[in-house]
Amino acid sequence: MEVKAREIVAPRGVYETLPSRVYTSPDLFSTEQERIFARSWQLAGHQSQTPNSGDFRVERVAGEDILIVRGDDGVLRAFYNICIHRGHALVEGSGCRKLFTCPYHAWGYDTRGRLRVAPNADEAGFDPTGKALKQVRLELLNGLVYVNLDTDAPGLADTLGPTAREIQEYLPNLNTCVWAHRSEEMLQANWKVVIENFNECYHCAVVHKSFTEGIVDPASYRIVDRGDSFLHCSLSQSNDRRAYAYDHDADEKSSMFASWLIWPLSAVQLYPGGVGMTFRWIPISADQTKVEVDWWLTDATPTEMEAALIENHATTTFSEDFPLVESVQRSMHSRGFDTGFILVDEQRSQMSEHVIKGIRDRYLQEMESYL
Ligand code: FES
Ligand SMILES: [Fe+2]
Repeated sequence: MEVKAREIVAPRGVYETLPSRVYTSPDLFSTEQERIFARSWQLAGHQSQTPNSGDFRVERVAGEDILIVRGDDGVLRAFYNICIHRGHALVEGSGCRKLFTCPYHAWGYDTRGRLRVAPNADEAGFDPTGKALKQVRLELLNGLVYVNLDTDAPGLADTLGPTAREIQEYLPNLNTCVWAHRSEEMLQANWKVVIENFNECYHCAVVHKSFTEGIVDPASYRIVDRGDSFLHCSLSQSNDRRAYAYDHDADEKSSMFASWLIWPLSAVQLYPGGVGMTFRWIPISADQTKVEVDWWLTDATPTEMEAALIENHATTTFSEDFPLVESVQRSMHSRGFDTGFILVDEQRSQMSEHVIKGIRDRYLQEMESYL
């Protein structure tokens, strides 16, 4: 892996965390929605969920309902799920339609978002030609659907650089995979507390025994700050206490553990055995974040090995973090806590918190004038 590419190197030292109020303020949460979530690439499922012309899904992105639909030309597009007549929501949930008819006054849009039907248009002298739903940028990352509400943002591949190439290389079959399983939880914690927890392995040996003793080789675990993404990579554990039946082959890409967090709210992850999954964090309020873990497999029915991994993940690494982040969030409201400490070591070892500093710096860069 190009672990050196675009790496941001935090010098050895002790740094101050963000102050506690940035984890609890409803005003800052609204600003984050505008400044961070609405300007970044957000995971919105996988292309396999809308395989046919007219297949659609509505996804919540940066506080907006976004309609993802496959056109009759085979192209997947994203739109605000809002009728351009007077603003009613166009559709709900998922399904397949040739014509999207608004429930309010029955304006109808085709699968490419173009307005086709507007009752009384002729009589009023209204010409529907050239009118369409407001489009949102959509790009595919090896089959994963990413959308960005910012029309001026750089493209996803340009934003991610080596991370996009590595995801292709290490999960080559991801674009033909299908959805197989979801684990989800509503966490009583700010999204930054959750993302920070995800991006350090200082707590792994303390809390995630199954992960450190049965999946990864902790001594080889490294986390790299690339600014727009954070790479975690590790060799797999070779002992006979493996948490599920993967083949350990130190030379095989599919035997590695890797996780690419795509700033700010999603991650693509490879488990030893070549198994791919994604994390998506949906900030609900300053104090609440929904986390969704989706497993993308060759077949919708997991193999025995995959089922064992999914079960292991849900009951250990995934759920072991819930009480941690909720405890931290409660403390963010206390008079007894303001800023804490970030410990960065020289080697940026598996215990180093350099990416917590990276998140802090990135956050300050995007939010400084509002703090
Ligand atoms: S708001 Fe949709 S048809 Fe009037
Ligand atoms: Fe954890």
